[in-house]
Amino acid sequence: AFNLRNRHFLTLLDFSAKEIEYLLDLSRDLKRAKYTGTEQQRLKGKNIALIFEKDSTRTRCAFEVAAYDQGARVTYLGPSGSQIGKKESIKDTARVLGRMYDGIEYRGFGQEIVETLAEYAGVPVWNGLTNEDHPTQILADFLTMEEHFGALSGLKLVFCGDGRNNMANALMIGCAKMGVHYTVVAPEHLWPEETLVAKCREVAKESGAKIEFSADVASGVAGADVVYTDVWVSMGEPQAVWKERIDLLKPYQVNKKLMSYAKADAIFLHCLPAFHDEETQVGREIAQQFGMSELEVTNEVFESAQSKVFDEAENRLHTIKAVMVATLGS
Ligand code: CP
Ligand code: NVA
Repeated sequence: AFNLRNRHFLTLLDFSAKEIEYLLDLSRDLKRAKYTGTEQQRLKGKNIALIFEKDSTRTRCAFEVAAYDQGARVTYLGPSGSQIGKKESIKDTARVLGRMYDGIEYRGFGQEIVETLAEYAGVPVWNGLTNEDHPTQILADFLTMEEHFGALSGLKLVFCGDGRNNMANALMIGCAKMGVHYTVVAPEHLWPEETLVAKCREVAKESGAKIEFSADVASGVAGADVVYTDVWVSMGEPQAVWKERIDLLKPYQVNKKLMSYAKADAIFLHCLPAFHDEETQVGREIAQQFGMSELEVTNEVFESAQSKVFDEAENRLHTIKAVMVATLGS
């Protein structure tokens, strides 16, 4: 019914609600096939380049396992070790990799980089996270929400934290497309950028999604089906912003009290990695410097029955597989 062959996957803005629903349906089919041992390989003989200018656990592993499950081979190009970004431009890199590979994943900095790659590669390019967007993550989040609630349209998702980061942008776009009410709960300083808000409100006219912002925790979180948060400082931002962000976002930490304002059966999602304890180097450093051992989410909420973060992480695999199969599969 839907033909996404040879399409790039750079942002959900480029996809209709029906196409997004199709990708979620395909993800569900692929997940079931893997579980039941009936998976058909539709990427046999394909070669896939994975460019990571920033670190990754989930996205990299999801692309690799999805490719292997589907019979493709991958080459991982990490933050160092290739000519990318140093001796060779993205435009030239695109034309070289496009001659050798059937598809290219890119994680890195500006959205314009992944756009340039797509313009010159001649093969499908998939956005594995930029400073501005993280579209594959949204498919995993939405699959998790569909699995839990049965349908997306009419749900309310509240994002607490840096409302201007890649996750907040990507969620706003995805919610606008799919009719999920989206509220950023954050100090006004961290509400999303105007031009993207205008674009999303335009998109939302069709789906009926409400897009709202609130600096008040109790009223902003009220009625939420999904409470979502992300790290307060993203990859590529200077360490120096930690102090300012902690001051701004401390009142917006997802803790038991904040969760109590959401619906009683609300779930908690986080794209991960999460700072909910001191079990990481960054966690220990922040704890030492600012006296905080829990940041965007408390360990109590992270480990609670409401938390579906590991279902969500697993769904990165099935949804990324769907993106590759839909755009490149036979
Ligand atoms: N959620 C996510 O993109 O995780 P990674 O940074 O581990 O890929
Ligand atoms: N906002 C985070 C998301 C990580 C998956 C970052 O860009 O670091």
